[in-house]
Amino acid sequence: ASSIPADDSVPDMEKRKLMNLLLVGALSLPTGFMLVPYATFFAPPGAGGGSGGTVAKDALGNDVIAVEWLKNHGPGDRTLTQGLKGDPTYLVVESDRTLATYGINAVCTHLGCVVPWNAAENKFLCPCHGSQYNNQGRVVRGPAPLSLALAHCDIDDGKVVFVPWTETDFRTGEEPWWT
Ligand code: FES
Repeated sequence: ASSIPADDSVPDMEKRKLMNLLLVGALSLPTGFMLVPYATFFAPPGAGGGSGGTVAKDALGNDVIAVEWLKNHGPGDRTLTQGLKGDPTYLVVESDRTLATYGINAVCTHLGCVVPWNAAENKFLCPCHGSQYNNQGRVVRGPAPLSLALAHCDIDDGKVVFVPWTETDFRTGEEPWWT
């Protein structure tokens, strides 16, 4: 007979535990949902490859898809995209209709104007003080003291990705001044 109250108390305890679990679950649920966007927000873009790269963005701010880009940009084309650290960076289409493995930073090494591509002259011509760069961004006329900076241009998952260029500058055989 003495065991009856104990038996009665067991279901109550279980109920109470269950209620507690539900309560804790209900309280922690919104927190769990909050974590998802935060985690996404803080994950650096382009970190998936682990290469420290940045997906190139077109003029509208969309990721540059290599195949699509090549449909609209023919051989010899040099068009600005948004590159590393948001710097304006030229994507280069080679004569065989592939993307060059390097991008050219468009910031003039003189005083920082964005240098337009001049297809007729096959050069980058700075409108600010007349500096000139060849079609790979190597300086051919001052006052600019240095060639335009390079970035590696890779294709990752179909997207164009810029990666910092830390090796020898293939145009000059010199160490990169921009690292
Ligand atoms: Fe380009 Fe001066 S900023 S030549």
